Amino acid sequence: MSLMKLETAKSGVVISEEMKAAAAAANTLLHTGEGAGNDFLGWVNLPSSIDNEQIAAIEAQAAKLRAKADVVICIGIGGSYLGAKAVIDAMSNSFEFLKKKHDNPTVVFAGQNISEDYTYELLDAVKDYSVAAIVISKSGTTTEPAIAFRLIKSYLEERYGKEEAAERIVAITDQARGALKTLSTNEGYPTFVIPDNVGGRFSVLTPVGLLPLAVAGIDIKALVAGAQAMEQATGADVPVEENLAAQYAIVRNELYKAGKKVEILGSYEPKLLYIAEWWKQLYGESEGKDGLGIFPASVTLTADLHSMGQYIQEGERTLFETIISVAESKYEVKVEADEANLDGLNFLTGKRLSNINKMAELGVQLAHIDGGVPQLRIEIPAINETSIGALIYFFEKACGISGYILGVNPFNQPGVEAYKKNMFALLDKPGYEEESKAIKARL
Ligand code: PA5
Repeated sequence: MSLMKLETAKSGVVISEEMKAAAAAANTLLHTGEGAGNDFLGWVNLPSSIDNEQIAAIEAQAAKLRAKADVVICIGIGGSYLGAKAVIDAMSNSFEFLKKKHDNPTVVFAGQNISEDYTYELLDAVKDYSVAAIVISKSGTTTEPAIAFRLIKSYLEERYGKEEAAERIVAITDQARGALKTLSTNEGYPTFVIPDNVGGRFSVLTPVGLLPLAVAGIDIKALVAGAQAMEQATGADVPVEENLAAQYAIVRNELYKAGKKVEILGSYEPKLLYIAEWWKQLYGESEGKDGLGIFPASVTLTADLHSMGQYIQEGERTLFETIISVAESKYEVKVEADEANLDGLNFLTGKRLSNINKMAELGVQLAHIDGGVPQLRIEIPAINETSIGALIYFFEKACGISGYILGVNPFNQPGVEAYKKNMFALLDKPGYEEESKAIKARL
């Protein structure tokens, strides 16, 4: 079975030789490590470097947390949050929260915001459950997760005592630096390392993603196997014509050159909503710099046809769409006949919802083409660990290629610092006295 299909014909793009050459060169640079940001290329060969021992260590730690806790709070932000959230949502029953019995601990997230109410409600809600925490920060100094961890650490220590709390906390951070590393050493937390050469948004296949996923009962071996297969299928020696990641990067850059500045990632499977959130971070932080970059947006369909559909059909013509299409649903639900047929839908009797959903997808695709919105389509065989693993690596590889074609360093995020400086100045952080004065004068 093929890992994935990429349909670009309906994008209307005629690929130039120049763009092909740029993509080939970009892919080579990712493998030779001679491009910008080359100290952050650890993700390129990451899937194939994950061995059984690493998987076993993650699974063993996950088993300990699973044995101790009904709820595992996963603390992190950005790349230290979105990958795990995306895969857990994609792989879980959408209504697991309604079930009376759960086969796996529930993974909830904290530290991805500073909302007082969110934090209060989370700490209040977990009181009735046995709790553990995974704290994730590569730098170990990010404010949002650090605040959340302070609170959750003290909650766990109060509830279980310091010694037992230390058994219920796992840290994932840099191997040598950062406050979280120091704290973990001092407190004796089990730790996993985020490799130096893997940036946050490319880290889902490190323990950052794999430990929370294993805790949630997801088959991380199969996820990694899917990524490995895609790593091979997009390798340095794969010609651009056969390399799906290069093809995707090429088409989006051709569209960008033609004035399509916004890419909307859509899916007809609501479970993939956070895959789109993860993708937005991956592409937004990697490409949005130096006054350049496609703006990554997302929709969940058909729901958003009744909100964003009007704009996509008839608004500014700066958009193109990429649809993640799922070939096979997991379950079967058919429309039933209704004697009164008041809604006039008896013509659908006996049809599977997946079939109706597919017709919606095809109908929308053609309508949007008619409306001047070029269409790309990524088809995965089903929502399972292997195809999600392949999809993750596909997007990562395409992002690296695309960023190099665009001419930016896809592996830094200098723009993220601006808000932090202002926030610290407003909060009177020691050392920010001058900035504090200046910013307060602007309020
Ligand atoms: O992609 C990135 O590097 C960022 O989005 C980080 O993942 C995010 O800022 C969190 O950083 P850290 O893991 O250091 O707390």
